[in-house]
Amino acid sequence: MRAIIIGATSGIGEEMARQMLDEGWQVGVTGRRVDRLDALAGAHPGKVETAAMDVTDPLSAEATLATLIERMGGADMIVLSSGIGKFNKDLETGPELETLDVNVTGFTHMALAAMRYFAGQGQGHLVIISSIASRRGDRAAPAYNASKAYQARYAEGLRKWAARRGLDIAVTDVQPGFVDTAIVQGKVFWLQPVDKAVRQIMAGVKARRSRVVVTRRWRLVAWAMERVPESLWHRM
Ligand SMILES: NC(=O)c1ccc[n+]([C@@H]2O[C@H](COP(=O)([O-])OP(=O)(O)OC[C@H]3O[C@@H](n4cnc5c(N)ncnc54)[C@H](OP(=O)(O)O)[C@@H]3O)[C@@H](O)[C@H]2O)c1
Repeated sequence: MRAIIIGATSGIGEEMARQMLDEGWQVGVTGRRVDRLDALAGAHPGKVETAAMDVTDPLSAEATLATLIERMGGADMIVLSSGIGKFNKDLETGPELETLDVNVTGFTHMALAAMRYFAGQGQGHLVIISSIASRRGDRAAPAYNASKAYQARYAEGLRKWAARRGLDIAVTDVQPGFVDTAIVQGKVFWLQPVDKAVRQIMAGVKARRSRVVVTRRWRLVAWAMERVPESLWHRM
C-alpha cells in the first residue's frame, strides 16, 4: 500500500508515517521542515519519498503533490494532517486569518487535488485529521474550532460526492481529542500519547470508517459537547 501524508514532519502525521512504515507501507511525506522529512527517510531507506510543501502556497503545493504521486508510482491513500491552531484571546485578526489559510484554504486545495486524483484512477482513500473541536465553537481560538467544523463537513460532502458517482473512494474524518503534540498549548487534561492515539486512528482508517474519534474517553466527551446547553458551555 502507498500513502502520502501531508503534514508529516511532526505529531500525528509523523507517527502515522512511522506506524505505516512498520507495517510495510510505502510512504510519501510532506511539510515545510525538510530536515525532519530527511531524517524519517534516512531511517527507512528505499521506503520513503519526501517533498517540501507549504499548503499556504496552494498552486505550488498541488503541483508538488502531483509530482510526489508520480514518483511513488501512484497513491492508495492521502492523509491531510497539516494544521495550525493559535490562541487568540484578544480576538486579533491576523492569527484567525493565518489559521484559515492553512486549515481551510490550503486544506481545500489539497482535498480537491486528492479527490480528483482518486476519481481519475477509480479508487482511493482520503483521510482528514479534523478534531473534536469541530463539535462546538470556543473562545481560545475561534478560527481553529470553526476551521475544524469546516473540515468535518467538507469530508461529509466529499463522501457524498463520491457515493453519488459510484466511485470506490473512502473519506475518513478523524476527530482526535487532546494528543501530546506541538500544536497543544497551555495546560490541558486527558492528553493522549501520540502513539496510542495513532494506533486507534489506524484501526479506524483500515476499517474505512467514515468518522473515527479517538480515544474512547474523548468519544464520550465529543458526544457530551454537542449536548451541553449553551449556558453551561459558556462557563466551561
Ligand atoms: N494534537 C492535538 O491535540 C490535536 C487534536 C485534534 C486535532 N489535531 C489536528 O491534527 C493535525 C496534526 O497536528 P499535530 O497535533 O500533529 O500537531 P503538529 O505536530 O504541530 O503537526 C502539524 C503538522 O502540520 C504541518 N503544517 C503546518 N503548517 C503547514 C503549512 N503551511 N504547510 C504544510 N504543512 C504545514 C506541520 O509541518 P511543518 O511545520 O514542517 O510545515 C506539521 O507536520 C492538525 O490538523 C491538528 O489540528 C490535533
